[in-house]
Amino acid sequence: MPTVVSGIRSTGNLHLGNYFGAVKNFIEMQNEHQTFFFIADFHSLTTHPTPADLHTNVKQVLAEYLACGIDPEKATIFIQSDVPEIPELYLLLNMNAYLGELERTTSFKDKARQQPENVNAGLLTYPVLMAADIIIHKANLVPVGKDQEQNLEMARTFARRFNRMYDVETFPTPRAYTFEGKDMVKIPGLDGSGKMGKSEGNAIALAESPESIRKKVMRAVTDEGPKELNQNKPAVIQNLFTLMDVVSAPDVVAHFDLAYNNCSIRYGDLKKQLAEDIINFTNPIRGRINEISKDNDYLSRVAKNGAEKARESASKTLKEVREIIGFRRFF
Ligand code: TRP
Repeated sequence: MPTVVSGIRSTGNLHLGNYFGAVKNFIEMQNEHQTFFFIADFHSLTTHPTPADLHTNVKQVLAEYLACGIDPEKATIFIQSDVPEIPELYLLLNMNAYLGELERTTSFKDKARQQPENVNAGLLTYPVLMAADIIIHKANLVPVGKDQEQNLEMARTFARRFNRMYDVETFPTPRAYTFEGKDMVKIPGLDGSGKMGKSEGNAIALAESPESIRKKVMRAVTDEGPKELNQNKPAVIQNLFTLMDVVSAPDVVAHFDLAYNNCSIRYGDLKKQLAEDIINFTNPIRGRINEISKDNDYLSRVAKNGAEKARESASKTLKEVREIIGFRRFF
């Protein structure tokens, strides 16, 4: 059975784009594969969060993924910093990661531009840590979005380099698992832009209140309306329909599609309906997020079990790696 590993950014407030772009697929994968999902809190240190923020974020992310349906009985869900084997493998991999290749990665160059006052070594070696995350479980598949493809390519490089250097077959070469063409839906923003994103400020969070959802949807960008029968929908309008496609019943979508095509559509009605359907969709998730966030016992149980399972897998690999490198115990 293929092993799947995916890291989750440790900032909370998942939005609809995250849900339909990634989380929904994780939930499906946990049924078919051996899955490890972890909250990448070591990685988050590159931006120097305050201790309180770091903790709150990790807790929020954990609660949100559980609320969405990641099932700790099926998947191993854990917090990266609970698994000391990961930083150890990272240290070992760093010895064979070269300044030139690390400097050339686009994510490093982007970050260096975004935070010129804090171009730390952790940013530079971010892909090494990510490689350690992945290969410590001998992963075969890594579900990642486009923006992470280069980092994954680096992980493949480090895995192969280790195998070649020691003439072993310890690490499989991890492949990207993309949902594109399959179930992957790119959720647009409400501002007419192609993509919903937290930093774009156009997102609807899963934990968002109904009032706030209504406000945001009613403010969504539209145009003057269709002028001809059956005309193509411009991007801003298509965006609203794409959102409807994922949250509304098919006959509702068909109703508004028809109204668009015969030029009788009223965008106000469409937005009202869309808002209510988003609320219906997110409400149970929001309820569970609130419940789970309050249940510290449950959260610590999940984190503890996850850490145990992850360490079991990680320590096996690390033991093998240490032996191969030549760290053989005298005691
Ligand atoms: N870099 C990923 C992101 O920003 C998060 C991540 C860390 C990750 N380690 C990983 C993803 C390992 C996949 C596998 O989204």
